Amino acid sequence: MSITVTGHDFNLQTAHTSYLMGVLENGEMGQYYYGPRLGAKVNFADFRHREFRSITPTLTAEQPEVTLSMIKQEYPSYGHGDFRYPAYQVTYDNGARISEFTYQDYEIIDGKPKLGALPSASADVDDKHVQTLRIHLLEQQSGLQMTLNYSVFEDEDVIVRSTTFENKGTSTVKLNAALSASVDFSDDQYDMIQLSGAWARERHLYRRTLTRGVQAISSTRDASSAQQSPFLALARKQTTNQNGDVYGFNLVYSGNFLAQVEVDSYNVTRMTMGINPFEFGWQLKSHTQFQTPEVMMTFASDGFNGMSHQFQRFLTNHLISKRWVKEPRPILINNWEATYFDFNEQKLLAIAKSAKSLGIELFVLDDGWFGKRNDDKTSLGDWQVNLAKLPNGLSGLANKIHDLGLQFGLWFEPEMISKESKLYAAHPDWTIHVPDRRMTPARNQFVLDFSRQEVIDYLFDQMAAAIRETHLDYIKWDMNRHITEMFSLALSADQQEELPHRYILGVYQLYERLTSAFPDVLFESCSSGGGRFDAGMLYYAPQTWTSDDTDAIERLKIQWGTSMIYPLSTMGAHVSAVPNHQDRRVTTLATRADVAYFGVLGYELDISKMSPAEKATVVDQIKFYKQYRLLFQQGTFIRLQSPYDGDGNVTSWMVVSDDQKTAIAGRYQVLAEPNPAYRRLKFAGLNPDFQYTVDGVDGEFSGRQLMNAGIFIPELFAERGNNRDQTFDFHADLYVVHAK
Ligand code: GLA
Repeated sequence: MSITVTGHDFNLQTAHTSYLMGVLENGEMGQYYYGPRLGAKVNFADFRHREFRSITPTLTAEQPEVTLSMIKQEYPSYGHGDFRYPAYQVTYDNGARISEFTYQDYEIIDGKPKLGALPSASADVDDKHVQTLRIHLLEQQSGLQMTLNYSVFEDEDVIVRSTTFENKGTSTVKLNAALSASVDFSDDQYDMIQLSGAWARERHLYRRTLTRGVQAISSTRDASSAQQSPFLALARKQTTNQNGDVYGFNLVYSGNFLAQVEVDSYNVTRMTMGINPFEFGWQLKSHTQFQTPEVMMTFASDGFNGMSHQFQRFLTNHLISKRWVKEPRPILINNWEATYFDFNEQKLLAIAKSAKSLGIELFVLDDGWFGKRNDDKTSLGDWQVNLAKLPNGLSGLANKIHDLGLQFGLWFEPEMISKESKLYAAHPDWTIHVPDRRMTPARNQFVLDFSRQEVIDYLFDQMAAAIRETHLDYIKWDMNRHITEMFSLALSADQQEELPHRYILGVYQLYERLTSAFPDVLFESCSSGGGRFDAGMLYYAPQTWTSDDTDAIERLKIQWGTSMIYPLSTMGAHVSAVPNHQDRRVTTLATRADVAYFGVLGYELDISKMSPAEKATVVDQIKFYKQYRLLFQQGTFIRLQSPYDGDGNVTSWMVVSDDQKTAIAGRYQVLAEPNPAYRRLKFAGLNPDFQYTVDGVDGEFSGRQLMNAGIFIPELFAERGNNRDQTFDFHADLYVVHAK
């Protein structure tokens, strides 16, 4: 039993963690404890000590020691003496914003029901290791009901939280804020870890010491964004990749979010996460519900790798579609960096033929195949083939690609519209904009109003027609701008603040309809690279294009950061041309592949123009990747040496099979160091008692030796001997490890 209830005390237990809470004096829920597992026998009374403090509001005159500002809360409200930021706020019809929810009852169900219109975790009803607790609270005066939802995933050490509001009263109330989860920790000795960045340098790792007051990351772009990820971790100062305590929180949502930490004057740390209250408002009419997205929470005492493994296992077992999660992902060729908009059928077929001869499995036709799209100024919304480029139509090309023995994939950017398009001429009102005000362009394009059902219906029909016509195997769903002038012509004035969330619900609806109607089409989500890499997207699209930046050296930081949460099976990683198109860096074909192997491998360059020697190298790379594909895509990824530590000159990481019999480590050196220091590479995650060989290294090693002493790394510096003609800048080495 992972959930036990004694009176008004709740004990949620995973294999290694406990989460405790109980009903407070005011009827709301209090937060008692989250951390290493305490077992079934807990002294709950000890969490209910109260202390008197002068000058603080108290619950009643008779209970001067009960002051909400000193009590750790489960889903805090504002207005009764807790002056920290709350988890929600409601405006009632008289304008008051004071709520008094009181505990009613609870229910426990086996398994984890899906959330309906939102992406969410799930579990089989007969999965005895997953249970869901629903705690019901009622706002007596208004009839508003609140349900706090907790699903306990025992094996993965993850608890998933969300909140449901249901208006059982007669008048409309307005939700000003409805976050997904709030946790009050009893001290502030934590560092906050976040993944921040920009286009072409997504999900870089940042770590800062908590300080008094509010520290937060957020998105106001109505995308999870490249700028911030809907994730944060709280780690003890001494926590490293391999050791130490860390709490991780990740939101299953793709729109505006807030991830906030507030340290109060009593050193209590409040973590709150959910839809950003800025640019949010929801008219909750009588007898309607509002469901917040879910937050995945985990605690690990074995460092950041431990946290990542728990998240990765959870996403693999309970969120990413079962249809795809264990399916070997095809090695693709994408024509974007090979041709940009300048292609015709002949050019594409030349690339496809070369790709096939090298062992590639999927041909993806990127932007530019529809309408009159010869640059990024036109045609978004007109998802009909450009016959000037593809005179035999989409099916003509698709048939030839399929005849070559390749799968066929297409790029779409469904959420967008160009002013120069048939769609805009017919339906200018379908564009998000404020009437009679300036429209702000971005990449010459505007955003369709996904709160309108007719927009989603139109796009479903257009995309379904292309899928049927081509027997499509794969879709790259792109999204290349953020929303400005947020306004819908279809919503009333008092519902305009609902648009950011309604937009995301529309995106999810279209994804849901397409993936249900075409379950065998593999989706890869994209947003100018990795601008929407979040668990909400992964629910529908099991892969995400990690970044437009395919430079192997920049990718070390991007893939390292992304792996904090997401498994390798979700990360699109391509070998592209040099000089690299994003940062002009020149690296060897070997280095580019040695980085891209740690993800879902693809190629994105004009492979037909490669020299015979390069083609031979690619053949070997693809053979190697196919041999170890399941290890790369489904093994356990372990970060070893961080590109964020010190001068960041060396990065290493590895992937190990579930049976610990096979592992591959990658070690990367950014710049050659003259007369370098002594170097060893220490492995992790192996079986200490197994005997292993390491390809290219003499002798045998016990797992214990490989993990504790590591292997000697010869100098990567061209002073003497055979090294003289070689550069060791941007150098990569792979170490393939086999158990005997
Ligand atoms: C975005 C994507 C690229 C490519 C282009 C096409 O930038 O991230 O991979 O698809 O759009 O316009």
